[in-house]
Amino acid sequence: MTAPAILSKSASNAAPLFEARNITVTFGGLTAVKDISLAVRPGEILGLIGPNGAGKTTLFNALTGFVTPSSGQVMLAGRDITKLPPQARARLGMARTFQVERPFEDLSVLENVLVAAFLHHSGRQAENRAYAVLERVGLSDRATQPAAELNLARRRRLELAKVLALEPKLLFLDESIAGLNPPAQAEMVGLIRELADSGLGIVMVEHIMHVIMGLSHHIICMAFGELLAEGDPETVAHHPDVIRAYLGEDDD
Ligand SMILES: Nc1ncnc2c1ncn2[C@@H]1O[C@H](COP(=O)(O)OP(=O)(O)OP(=O)(O)O)[C@@H](O)[C@H]1O
Ligand SMILES: [Mg+2]
Repeated sequence: MTAPAILSKSASNAAPLFEARNITVTFGGLTAVKDISLAVRPGEILGLIGPNGAGKTTLFNALTGFVTPSSGQVMLAGRDITKLPPQARARLGMARTFQVERPFEDLSVLENVLVAAFLHHSGRQAENRAYAVLERVGLSDRATQPAAELNLARRRRLELAKVLALEPKLLFLDESIAGLNPPAQAEMVGLIRELADSGLGIVMVEHIMHVIMGLSHHIICMAFGELLAEGDPETVAHHPDVIRAYLGEDDD
């Protein structure tokens, strides 16, 4: 396991960019998320782990506005955004990727990114922004190619380019790395680390244990909707309840 990145002193002292307080989500009689609280500072990577059905995606959806929590509060830069829809959150600097990436297949790589760049820019400025983002994720040589022709690793990078074109302060990544081969995994890890180093707050759900443990500054482990353990990756990885929860699960 790679050592976790050290959070810079300024980042660790900064006020939280994003906070969730006592989030509970129920579906009928099922409590999918129970009383989860978390905070993310600029430059910080928060990893969300837990066995299948633990409630990670539901929590993610509640944090990003795709599901309304039954109780609890979501705060962005001190403002209560619990009831804001995803689009309004995007305008305030929150962006998310989806577990199953969905580019506009008929559009080119550049056009896919342009759609997002138009949130803050128009015309030539949007185009420049889109090119800059493609450069950043290493897709500028594919700009004119139809998105449908990209392989999985490039589709994942396109997904990242699309959210970066929204110029977020806070990024939610839903399994951006799972399913990639080791070199492509390493590329994504490098990109995500660079983004955090440039000051973005990042919340990520990822099943590949060594990847999330290596990238995250702080880990939250859920099971059956509840908080099982949290802390730095080393602490969480050695927590007896976490080991028990994962016993028998593969590291991929
Ligand atoms: N829309 C929904 N309606 C009813 N139940 C749901 C809904 N979404 C999720 N659930 C239930 O909530 C629980 C948590 O599911 P969730 O998808 O959040 O888990 P997860 O940790 O993301 O799992 P995985 O690792 O398999 O993706 C599960 O029991 C699931 O069946
Ligand atoms: Mg899930």
